[in-house]
Amino acid sequence: MAKYLVTGAAGFIGRSIAAALLERGETVRGVDNFATGKRSNLVGLEGMEFVEGDLSDAAVCERVVAGVEIIFHEAALPSVPRSVEDPISTNTACVDATVQLLWAAKKAGVRRVVYAASSSAYGDTPTLPKHEGMLPAPISPYAVAKLSGELYMQSFWRVYGLETVCLRYFNVFGPYQDPTSFYSGVLAKFCTRMMAGETPTIFGDGSQSRDFTFIENTVRGNLLAAEAPAEKVAGRVMNMATGSRITLNDVVEELRGITGYAGEVIYGPERNGDIKHSLADIGLAKELLGYEPVVEFREGLGRTVEWYRETEQQG
Ligand SMILES: NC(=O)c1ccc[n+]([C@@H]2O[C@H](COP(=O)([O-])OP(=O)(O)OC[C@H]3O[C@@H](n4cnc5c(N)ncnc54)[C@H](O)[C@@H]3O)[C@@H](O)[C@H]2O)c1
Repeated sequence: MAKYLVTGAAGFIGRSIAAALLERGETVRGVDNFATGKRSNLVGLEGMEFVEGDLSDAAVCERVVAGVEIIFHEAALPSVPRSVEDPISTNTACVDATVQLLWAAKKAGVRRVVYAASSSAYGDTPTLPKHEGMLPAPISPYAVAKLSGELYMQSFWRVYGLETVCLRYFNVFGPYQDPTSFYSGVLAKFCTRMMAGETPTIFGDGSQSRDFTFIENTVRGNLLAAEAPAEKVAGRVMNMATGSRITLNDVVEELRGITGYAGEVIYGPERNGDIKHSLADIGLAKELLGYEPVVEFREGLGRTVEWYRETEQQG
């Protein structure tokens, strides 16, 4: 019987959390419908019990929560442009599936759910750094859907006593992030394009900045959130990032150094729903979880490029 359930276990962050749990010798179940996740991400996770299924289906939720104590809820359709094109499927994957999972978890007596929330909840307010006391102002359908998930988490704590902890991720990057789709994270795309000597495209003038967070920091934050005492963290929402930011132009310069890319950069139109600047205040996660980022941006970037190189060589 698994103690932990990781949803979205074939995705970038879900598989990374599952790997860390397995490394600690924990019993883990994973669920995914491969909407954006990949079967190849399950390689190395053979110790995990895996269920293929869609969490918007109540029967799947009931099956995967059985006997579980703690859930890391990572499953979603995690893309702003995709949600702008198709808000209905984003809502199904992010809201309907979350409520189904919470309801099944409550009925099955699950103790805690740690939720992958999103910094997109802050919208485009000029105030930096973003702190949890700010009023949410989501812009894209994706941001609204992720924020709805947070509110459901808080509701299930208040109404049913299910311990929930929301971690608002900022831009996470690292090994296993998919660079191939139109909707993929910007860093994954830059890394792989510049490694291949192909021109990277920046949407906007490149002065937009992000609190890019290496995956190991995010995984660490999740494990801390699963262990922290309920009196401190249940029903809470906190930022999960590094507390520093870098512009896309500077990212490209860093990557020139790492990959040797000497070509040009294409600047395209700004993308609808994208925000200009993003930077987290991580004081609350420090206080409540004892969280500190352990891998800084440049080291993370180097390790990510290295991983894409190795994966490419393997084939
Ligand atoms: N990557 C980031 O920078 C970032 C930032 C903020 C929040 N998040 C959140 O973190 C979580 C993980 O993101 P990621 O970057 O690993 O994305 P990902 O696309 O790699 O992983 C999401 C996984 O969820 C699965 N999934 C989607 N709908 C499902 C459903 N209905 N049933 C079962 N599985 C389903 C997908 O197939 C995929 O494997 C998401 O909830 C996302 O909103 C990510």
